[in-house]
Amino acid sequence: MSRFIVISPVADFERRVREAVSGGLYGTIRTLPSSALNAGPHDIIGQQTDEPPEVIILGPGVAADEALKLATVIDLQYPEISVVLAADTSAELVLSAMRAGIRDIISPDADVQTIRVLLERACLSAAGRRRGLSAPGASQRDVGRVIAVMSPKGGVGKTTVATNLAVGLGKVAPMSVVIVDLDLQFGDVASGLLLDPEHTLVDAVTGAASRDTMVLKALLTVHPSGIYALCAPKSPNEADLITAEHVRQLLAQLATEFSYVVVDTAPGLGEHALATLEHATDAVWVVGMDIPSVRGLRSGLVILDELSLVPEGRHVVLNFANRRSGLSLQDVEATIGVPIDVVIPLSATLALSTNKGVPVLQDGVRDPAAKGLHKLVERFHPDWGTRAHRKLHRRAVVS
Ligand SMILES: Nc1ncnc2c1ncn2[C@@H]1O[C@H](COP(=O)(O)OP(=O)(O)OP(=O)(O)O)[C@@H](O)[C@H]1O
Ligand SMILES: [Mg+2]
Repeated sequence: MSRFIVISPVADFERRVREAVSGGLYGTIRTLPSSALNAGPHDIIGQQTDEPPEVIILGPGVAADEALKLATVIDLQYPEISVVLAADTSAELVLSAMRAGIRDIISPDADVQTIRVLLERACLSAAGRRRGLSAPGASQRDVGRVIAVMSPKGGVGKTTVATNLAVGLGKVAPMSVVIVDLDLQFGDVASGLLLDPEHTLVDAVTGAASRDTMVLKALLTVHPSGIYALCAPKSPNEADLITAEHVRQLLAQLATEFSYVVVDTAPGLGEHALATLEHATDAVWVVGMDIPSVRGLRSGLVILDELSLVPEGRHVVLNFANRRSGLSLQDVEATIGVPIDVVIPLSATLALSTNKGVPVLQDGVRDPAAKGLHKLVERFHPDWGTRAHRKLHRRAVVS
């Protein structure tokens, strides 16, 4: 069986696809000439001796309308196959591609590494769809985990935790992680990741993007670690345009497209935070080692519990942990009423990483804070529930 089919007369593109596959993906490639498009999907897929392919790449040099026609038929007849289009994009083409069920669009000039990441993601999506189609009674696509990083008090390390969590998850699910900056007025995910986004949340919740997930995806900013980012509006005034309903719709859209949607939030429990919690599968509660922050989290959890807005996945992170704070971990746990899952010590390296715009999990630096962040990432690993060393809420310590 060939896992990949490339239809393109451009030899150099085909060579890059071959290199991408041979450098890290298993499975073989079959190349077909552009004339195969006229033959229709049965002839293309029927040439496979046993199982159908997972990914069909409609490469440069094929007519866009022919490619879209073929993709539409494949989407109807073989929905488990991911079709990827290699073409220069325009807003119009992105919309048509979305309607034709094309999984992703890639530049014809993309380098080998970019092609590999994209193909890996297309295979994951094909596997997800096969699972969905074969599960008894399954009619919906898999939806990803929505992880809200929250705290009633400001400055406790939400953005630091959210950016590191997203980058760490990017290694678990390359190109299937998006970080959303819902600190709408003063969001600093862009600076924490050294991004200069062309589009922001305002563009994502208005116009075509709110109706078409493919358009929405085209507005995301790609980070070198292989994750996507949707950054906060550039001016606080623009933030007023974004409603709680926009947030609900946006998160629902992103969860259909990504395995992990990490949401950084503004301090407090404003309407956007509450809308986020409605969709969140998990909440990461960040608390500092000081009385206001600890009390704030306790009151927050009580209120949210009354509103039935506490997501099932609970992960409590004690940040700025420090023996000399005058509080012990047990004091914090006793006040908030729930165990602490992850401890991140006070760390000059972490503070420096914010100023550099390079999260410590991207940098690969060895630091006790990085260790705590790795532990947090691990809790979201798909086989976390089956890992032998897993203990839900195992005892944390402050060193
Ligand atoms: N464990 C730590 N040790 C030292 N500095 C830290 C630690 N965690 C975060 N910081 C630093 O504290 C500052 C505030 O962190 P961050 O911006 O992540 O907090 P926040 O909760 O997102 O703040 P806000 O509520 O304003 O959005 C940053 O400069 C960050 O580098
Ligand atoms: Mg922040």
